[in-house]
Amino acid sequence: MELRLTSLPVEQIETEALVVLAFQADRPEDGLAHAAARRVDEATGGWLTEALRSGEFTGKLYETLVLHRPPNLKARRLVLVGGGKRERFGSLELRRAAGAVVRALRSRSVTEAAMVVEGGAEEVSATAEGAILGNYEPDRYKTEKKNGKPVERFTLAVPAVDAGLEAALEQARIAGETQNYVRDLVAEPANRMTPSVLAERAREMAAECGLECDVLDAGRMNQLGMGALLGVAQGSAEPPALIVLQYRPQLAAEGAVHLGLLGKAVTFDSGGISIKPSDGMDKMKYDMAGGAAVIGAMRAIAQLKPSLPVTALIPAVENMPGGRAQRPGDVVRTLSGKTVEVLNTDAEGRLILADALTYAQRLGCTHLVDAATLTGAIVVALGHVNVGAFGSDQALLDRVLAAARAAGEKFWPMPLDDEYKEQLKSVVADLPNIGNRWGGAITAAMFLKEFADPLPWVHLDIAGTAWLEEAKPYMAKGPTGVPVRTLIRLVMDWS
Ligand code: BES
Ligand code: MN
Ligand code: ZN
Repeated sequence: MELRLTSLPVEQIETEALVVLAFQADRPEDGLAHAAARRVDEATGGWLTEALRSGEFTGKLYETLVLHRPPNLKARRLVLVGGGKRERFGSLELRRAAGAVVRALRSRSVTEAAMVVEGGAEEVSATAEGAILGNYEPDRYKTEKKNGKPVERFTLAVPAVDAGLEAALEQARIAGETQNYVRDLVAEPANRMTPSVLAERAREMAAECGLECDVLDAGRMNQLGMGALLGVAQGSAEPPALIVLQYRPQLAAEGAVHLGLLGKAVTFDSGGISIKPSDGMDKMKYDMAGGAAVIGAMRAIAQLKPSLPVTALIPAVENMPGGRAQRPGDVVRTLSGKTVEVLNTDAEGRLILADALTYAQRLGCTHLVDAATLTGAIVVALGHVNVGAFGSDQALLDRVLAAARAAGEKFWPMPLDDEYKEQLKSVVADLPNIGNRWGGAITAAMFLKEFADPLPWVHLDIAGTAWLEEAKPYMAKGPTGVPVRTLIRLVMDWS
């Protein structure tokens, strides 16, 4: 999608569809809170007021109304989009409203539009990101595309174009396109997205963007002693890969921060010998969403060039119940030297991340953030709305939460009290890979903490948020790309 800014007055914009926000209010005139809405209302002789008064358009969040041939405008259509209650409308809602507009246009095969944006850089960036995200459809393997035509050109109408807004638009384009790149990786079925394929995709991206890329194969993992990662991989015919991407700034900032980003990439999680029920197992192709988000974050970082060194580590495996698969009760030795009793082969994400966390420390990372579709328990706790955010260090957790808020992704802090560790006792090894039934997302995080300590570390459980079960007005069903925008923002705001 081509994006640009214009400062033409709304009446003068030649477009297939001029998009204007209107809000939900008791009196129709209060719904026209934005100056542009009032101006369009005036030009058309009260079309907006009339739409609101008749109740055909209520201003409800993400509602759209398409009107043809508005008088006294150069636009062929006037599209109203609801902003909901004015006082509850922020940049998160704006991002989604822009997405909803693009999805409404796309479904009608309207391939060009202009949206009026009130505000500054933050509003421009939310609108642009939302438009790019709304334009995405995971229909790669449909030979007949039935969901209309994607929007090709989208103009943001602002009061005055300046360098600040141009820069905001460019950054939003990078973030939005990167998020769709992540969604493309996650949408791939497991037969087309094996650990080797993911490593190849990371290599290609690194070569294009100028990042260092090192892929550790099973032989090197074995030499190093990554017994936990190899244990998970051994049930599959597909070889594992530990993808390491490095970004080194030209002008390193003062201070010795070196951020490690880790992402779980289980290209298919059958559960292994502790096999999952077949119902819904197809979805376990998205068990690499954390890894994909981290690869995406590195792609954006390479383009945005922050002053912070960042190393990404993506352990990629397929969790299968093959003849050489690890068994419940097996004991593995992790890279850290700690031994783990694998009581459930379906708790594999924490095993592969354990070795990656230790390796991140060996590579000199000073702060760690991981993203993983780690537990069904986080879905029970937070549903499909919030990412569960666990932190061993309040300052780092606060940074991540602030980045999430700024990026418009919803995160919720989760506890990590030492008391939860009581569940992680094994008779035969240093620790088991599962706790009991209760607080499963937290005991999984406690397990990771054993390998992240003593570094400041944040763990993001995205099992509930990396995949949309049902389409939203502003987003297609399927992969969401969460939490890539937060990771990008974290690095940019830190540098
Ligand atoms: N990949 C799953 C977690 C998951 C569940 C992701 C639902 C997305 C949606 C993970 O590897 C897993 O199987 N976790 C188990 C842990 C259990 C065996 C302690 C779970 O949550 O059931
Ligand atoms: Mn599993
Ligand atoms: Zn898994």
